[in-house]
Amino acid sequence: MKTISIALQKGGTGKTVLSVSLAAALARQNPGRVLLVDCDPQGNSTEWTFSQTLESELAGVLLGKCKLKDAIIASEFPGLSVLPTAGLGGELKVWDEGAGARRPFAMREVIKAVAALGFKFCILDLSPGFGAIERAALVASDEVITPIMPDPFGLSGLEIFTKNLADLRNDLETQKPEYRRIIINAVDNRIRQHGEIVEDMRKEAAEFSLYVFPVDQVFRRAETEHKSIYDMGTAKKETLDELERLAAEAGEG
Ligand SMILES: Nc1ncnc2c1ncn2[C@@H]1O[C@H](COP(=O)(O)OP(=O)(O)OP(=O)(O)O)[C@@H](O)[C@H]1O
Ligand SMILES: [Mg+2]
Repeated sequence: MKTISIALQKGGTGKTVLSVSLAAALARQNPGRVLLVDCDPQGNSTEWTFSQTLESELAGVLLGKCKLKDAIIASEFPGLSVLPTAGLGGELKVWDEGAGARRPFAMREVIKAVAALGFKFCILDLSPGFGAIERAALVASDEVITPIMPDPFGLSGLEIFTKNLADLRNDLETQKPEYRRIIINAVDNRIRQHGEIVEDMRKEAAEFSLYVFPVDQVFRRAETEHKSIYDMGTAKKETLDELERLAAEAGEG
């Protein structure tokens, strides 16, 4: 099984839209074998992919209140399973601020159990924080992908992330996760600065694989309708092409 985190310590850069869409893309190729794990106490990816009442959640598994198998649900997206987090009244924040600090490898145990259930891909949607849950999720991942917005703050966000990741690997004496893909999200070709930032990134971050996603209203609409962007029928060709490329390359290794 390959485990991929989508993370950055900055709010609103597209972590949720890209983790949900990457999971949807992989589930089209591997129906029933992709798990989206909502590691954000806001529960946004759960709300997007599932509109019924939750019986259990990721926090319940971490707190030992329920079994992994019982917390995983079939989402409303074809072929995609979800290990959810309840935004309202959820307990992930409780774990994050309590027991989580003493259990840096707790998510590794969860991921190991997910693999034992036969999943092929596990995609983790992280919050913009860098607390116990984010740290535990990162060291449980094979790979992390960072989405940034095409502005100067996006670049400083990458610097902060790189420093945090280095400290985490150092503290926990691990090389995981691998970091070699960056997404520049919500690029508007009519804005000159966007084009310049994409070009600068191609030069300055040459050791990274770069993916460029356009501004596309399909994401907001898909969230509201609890659908994947594939099922909306209105996604831009550029969006779908870049998503397919990301899924193929990140899914490969
Ligand atoms: N490429 C895009 N085109 C248009 N809108 C987008 C795009 N990417 C994201 N958005 C919109 O921007 C908002 C923030 O995106 P998203 O929730 O994925 O960010 P996030 O990084 O997960 O935020 P948070 O840090 O709060 O978890 C959402 O309303 C989403 O629909
Ligand atoms: Mg989010």
